[in-house]
Order: sequence, then C-alpha cells, then structure tokens
Amino acid sequence: MSAKVWASMAADLILGKDVSEKIYADLRDRIARLKQNGIVPGLAVILVGDDPASQVYVGMKDKKCVELGINSYQHILPADTTQEELMAKIRELNADDRVSGILVQLPLPKHLDESAVIKAIDPDKDVDCFHPFNLGKMIIGEADLLPATPAGIHQMMVRSGIKIAGKHVVIVGRSNIVGKPLANILMQKDENADATVTVVHSRTANFSELTKMADILIVAIGKPRLITADMVKEGAVIIDVGTNRIDDPTAKNGKRLVGDVDFDSVKDKVSAITPVPGGVGPMTICMLMSNTVTAAERRLTK
Ligand code: GUN
Repeated sequence: MSAKVWASMAADLILGKDVSEKIYADLRDRIARLKQNGIVPGLAVILVGDDPASQVYVGMKDKKCVELGINSYQHILPADTTQEELMAKIRELNADDRVSGILVQLPLPKHLDESAVIKAIDPDKDVDCFHPFNLGKMIIGEADLLPATPAGIHQMMVRSGIKIAGKHVVIVGRSNIVGKPLANILMQKDENADATVTVVHSRTANFSELTKMADILIVAIGKPRLITADMVKEGAVIIDVGTNRIDDPTAKNGKRLVGDVDFDSVKDKVSAITPVPGGVGPMTICMLMSNTVTAAERRLTK
C-alpha cells in the first residue's frame, strides 16, 4: 500500500475515559447491592511523606471513592514515620471491618522497607494486588484481585473489541507492577487472553525486530517517545502506558506529558492506539475501585 493511502488512514483511538465509564456503571450497581445488605465498601490509603505526584494520585483516588459512594479513609503520615509505626498502622487497618481495601502509595521514603510493608497487608484487602500471595494466585489463574494497571489494559482491549487470542503480544518493560503481571494475564488459558507473549526490556538484543513482530504492542518502559513508526508493524494495536513529563517551552507550565510511543509518527501506520494523556491513565483508578468493591463483596458470603 502506498504511503499516500496510509497517510489518509486514521487509527482508532482507544480512550480510557470511555471504557471506564462502562465499568463504573457496573460498579455502581454492585455498590448499591452491597448497601442493600448493609455493607459500604471502604478504601484506606496510606501516604507517607509529601511527594507532590503521590499527593495528586491519592487526591484522585479519594475523589473517585466519594463519587461512587465508597468510604475513603486517608492516612497521611510524616516523612520520618518509622517502619514499626507504618506496620502498626497496617495491622490496625487489617483488623478494621470498615476497611475493605488497603493501599500504601508508592514509592515510600527510602528508609522504609517496601517489600515488608506490602507483605504485611492482609491479602484479602490487598487491592493493589502487590502481595506475593495474590500474585501467585494470578499466575495459576485463580485470581480474584488483579493488579490495577495490567487489569485496566486488559479490560480496555477486551471492551474495545480487540481480539487477543492467538495474537502475538509484545510487552516492552518488565516491571513488577505492569510488564510481568500483564504478560501473565494475557497468556492465561482464557478466550479473552490466550495470547503468545514476548517481553522485551533494556537488555534485549534485536529490540526493534521484536517490536515489529507485534500484532499488539504494549509499551511500559518509561522512556519518552521511544517507539517510532519504523519499530511497529502496519496495522498493529498500540497500547502506551508511559507517562513522561518533558520540557515544552510552548506549554503554560513549561512541561508536557508524553507517552513511551511517538504518537504523531506511529498513528498513521497502526489500526488502533491509546493517546497520552487520556488512554490507559483513567483505567488504573477504575480497576482499583473495582478491586475495592470485589474485596467488600467477600463479606456477603462470610
Ligand atoms: N504509585 C504509582 N502507581 C501506584 C499504584 O498503582 N499503587 C500504589 N500503591 N502506588 C503507586
């Protein structure tokens, strides 16, 4: 096909806001049913210190809880909180029946042991799905909670009618919160998964040969506009998980948010793509809310 024809083809834009609206409609019904049974879901968020980006994220989670009728309990602790003080707070929330889900906002200040903190959360209340017990259940296909960003990406594709089964999915990035769990979710034996998955990362040889083989390319590596048109296959589906703040003298605050994909060069070559912002972003909080409702629903059967 000629370049001219390709240039006139527009990729579908996959928007997290649109997809999340449908999930929120289901969640509102589930929350109403819980309330008929005398249960109000509750999310406890612990923020240690005063990192501005974390403050913004925690504020967004609180606002969404209020909108949906989920009780939001915020625990803002000083930056010099000790490991034992933080562990005591988690034990207190583990024992509190009003709290269905517990989230410790990451990153924690350097003197705190993140791994020990995650393991101290009751797995039933681990709405981030960062606890090794829940990650293990995910790997063997028995998960009731899934990590929010990978689950959001999966839902986004399924609900946009993108067929995953039998496709070659290439994931760029191997983080514990996106790349590794996402590879597992997409390779599960399930008609909405069943993908052949390749994970590439900073040490991969023949990096762009592999990205070019992807029917579905998912990029979560934190490098602004790394993926350019020559690295993708014609007609591929592109999911961009990157959120990089770069300098932009023309912007009001001198900064601009861009993804890990060079959107302008890639969009004319592919069949569907998520923009940044507005693509994957809204899905993470949505799936966190979904996990909180799922955790609260355990009490219906207890
Ligand atoms: N910091 C950035 N993303 C996340 C997340 O999904 N969960 C938590 N707890 N902290 C984060």
